[in-house]
Amino acid sequence: MSIYREPLYYEIAFSFIKPSKQIDLFEALIKKYSKIKTVSFLDIGCGPSPQLLELAKRGYRCTGLDLCPNMLKYLAGKAKAAGCKIETKKADFTKFTLKKQFDFAMMMMGTIGYIDSAAKLASHLKATAKALRPGGLYLIENFRTVRRKERFFSPQTWMLKKNNIIVRVGYKIEVRDSLRGLETETIILDVDDHGKKHLFNQKACIKIFSPQEFFQALKATGSFEFLGWFDRETLKSTKLPKLGNYTLLRRKE
Ligand SMILES: C[S@@+](CC[C@H](N)C(=O)[O-])C[C@H]1O[C@@H](n2cnc3c(N)ncnc32)[C@H](O)[C@@H]1O
Repeated sequence: MSIYREPLYYEIAFSFIKPSKQIDLFEALIKKYSKIKTVSFLDIGCGPSPQLLELAKRGYRCTGLDLCPNMLKYLAGKAKAAGCKIETKKADFTKFTLKKQFDFAMMMMGTIGYIDSAAKLASHLKATAKALRPGGLYLIENFRTVRRKERFFSPQTWMLKKNNIIVRVGYKIEVRDSLRGLETETIILDVDDHGKKHLFNQKACIKIFSPQEFFQALKATGSFEFLGWFDRETLKSTKLPKLGNYTLLRRKE
């Protein structure tokens, strides 16, 4: 069963992130690299998007795009409860069209890995370029282009708790097809919700693009400038993409 149909448990499982700090960093990147005034944000593969909630609280216009209706319903509900507005759009991020254009787009938490072919990556970049205003930024978090660390393949486990719900998480990535850069990602959520137990086990195919494949797709799309790989803690630009990097693109004018 897909863990993405369980937004609350998913959000608790990944609640180690600090959205306020992330948005401070985005604002710093916008100040330095965006060529346009930034008032609207699109989160692609948004899930429960604590980032959009933080942005909406700061007064930005926000839209979340996801394929999973449960995630979108949960996100809209959180925004309503917080007294702000987040628009939602159910769509496939490898082929979408939106009526509005945005000043900033983002794809967080390695979601880009679910795009598992060069053709789909080119189609995704084309769709995202159309959804962005010229001069606006596209930030991709954790674009895994290099398998440099053994740790990448070591299973990880952790536990997080919120309002008497305990979520134990198992995460691992195993080689599926090394020639094509395909991996199998397994996420297990072992949930204790006020004494009620649930077990979710999700397996998905993810792709590790080499920098060459990524630049080829960018070139084929022709709509983005590559601004660099950035360390997501310090925003220092790095020669090679570190795990957890921010990859920054700007829509050509
Ligand atoms: C790793 S989660 C990331 C969620 C959130 N952005 C975060 O940072 O925690 C991936 C999200 O992408 C969505 N997703 C997966 N494949 C998709 C597709 N082809 N089109 C749109 N959304 C997709 C899933 O439903 C899920 O919410």
